[in-house]
Amino acid sequence: MRNEKEIKLQIQELVKEYYKTFHAQTHVFHEGDKINYSGRVYDEQELLNLVDAALEFWLTSGHYVQEFEKGLSDFLNVRHCSLVNSGSSANLCAFMALTSPQLKERQIKKGDEVIAVAAAFPTTVAPIIQYGAVPVFIDVTIPEYNIDISKLEQAWSEKTKAVFLAHTLGNPFDLQYIRDFCDKYQLWLIEDNCDALGSKYYYNGEWHMTGTIGDLSTYSFYPPHHITLGEGGAVCTNNTQLYRLVNSFRDWGRDCWCASGVDDTCKHRYTQQFGELPYGYDHKYVYSHFGYNLKSTDMQASVGCAQLKKLPGFVMARKENWAYLKERLKDVSDHIILPEAVKNSDPSWFGFLMTVKENAGFTRDDFVQFLEERNIQTRLLFSGNYIKHPCFDELRSSGTGYRVVGGLENTDRIMRDSFWIGVYPGMNKAKLDYMIAAIKEFINNL
Ligand SMILES: Cc1ncc(COP(=O)(O)O)c(C=O)c1O
Repeated sequence: MRNEKEIKLQIQELVKEYYKTFHAQTHVFHEGDKINYSGRVYDEQELLNLVDAALEFWLTSGHYVQEFEKGLSDFLNVRHCSLVNSGSSANLCAFMALTSPQLKERQIKKGDEVIAVAAAFPTTVAPIIQYGAVPVFIDVTIPEYNIDISKLEQAWSEKTKAVFLAHTLGNPFDLQYIRDFCDKYQLWLIEDNCDALGSKYYYNGEWHMTGTIGDLSTYSFYPPHHITLGEGGAVCTNNTQLYRLVNSFRDWGRDCWCASGVDDTCKHRYTQQFGELPYGYDHKYVYSHFGYNLKSTDMQASVGCAQLKKLPGFVMARKENWAYLKERLKDVSDHIILPEAVKNSDPSWFGFLMTVKENAGFTRDDFVQFLEERNIQTRLLFSGNYIKHPCFDELRSSGTGYRVVGGLENTDRIMRDSFWIGVYPGMNKAKLDYMIAAIKEFINNL
């Protein structure tokens, strides 16, 4: 009879053959092939890891999760990483951690205010509203598509407790100004880094990864993102108290921080007093928060471990593809506003975002339709103006639950005139050239 190692080796050989036969991505582009805005880029290693996790059959969070958390922390140079099941869950856990009574006077309470933008991904803002805090929306600038920092002082009030913003499509917001602003008023800063993994910002005289300057940062590993686990997300922080709070909200609200399947890490499992429980109540079943279960699995993390090794190459490809488009689209800048990196930043781009100029002679919707007809996938900047969506109907009509400071002219303009195309590592020169030619064909044939 063959032993475990021999059977595993045979399975691995078959997985490699299966990958080569059915998955290996060809880079040959034929005119008319669909050009996706993003997608999974992987090789046989992702499949091998996934099969390995399946054979181990641990099913929940285990050694692959630990390896991934360590790998991502090392990449970013942060102390703590908590893997969760999506970027939206990461935003929820990060925000809810700041509502813990354990933070005393820094706790975000219902009715407190959080500075945000409405040109956002919905779940960067939704946790604020779900909890009963009040988002205070400021406009963004074009062509950076990040918060207009000149409005920050005006947005601050006695109730402001935090700033919660995404680095839009990889372009970092002004971390120097915003971190200083947060320090001045003792505010928490959450960096939604879901679209910016690998971006850098020159902060206090040194280059730092985005996601390491705020108190908490969040990540998404849904397939279009810089790396994928299928579904997945993470929260990172250098603050050990916040790390414990994030894990508590992720893991049912429990007080205990034992890893899955492990007991008595604190060595006081039966010797503590909590709330009005009997003395010595099993720490594993003590709940200090009203939590969720947002954990991820070893299957997801196993794919992530293989993806992390490719991340530096992915970041480089995204930068090169973005620069290639920017250089070759300069001659249509009479008609479209091209994107710009924020000062002091080195973005790991998520996409190439454009805004149709007011006097361009065509609409964004006509332009997008033309490109889609040529099988070039396009995307809008998420919600455009989140306040205009049906989920805001009640709040909008009652005029409660959020505030707007100054106008949202650029946010509305983005909703009307902006869209983006892909720069992911699955692009190649042929696809980029095809997109450039299609854009020029549309504009030159007006
Ligand atoms: C900026 C931003 N934040 C949060 C998310 C949510 O991530 P997920 O789709 O993994 O829930 C996304 C998703 O693309 C995003 O772009």
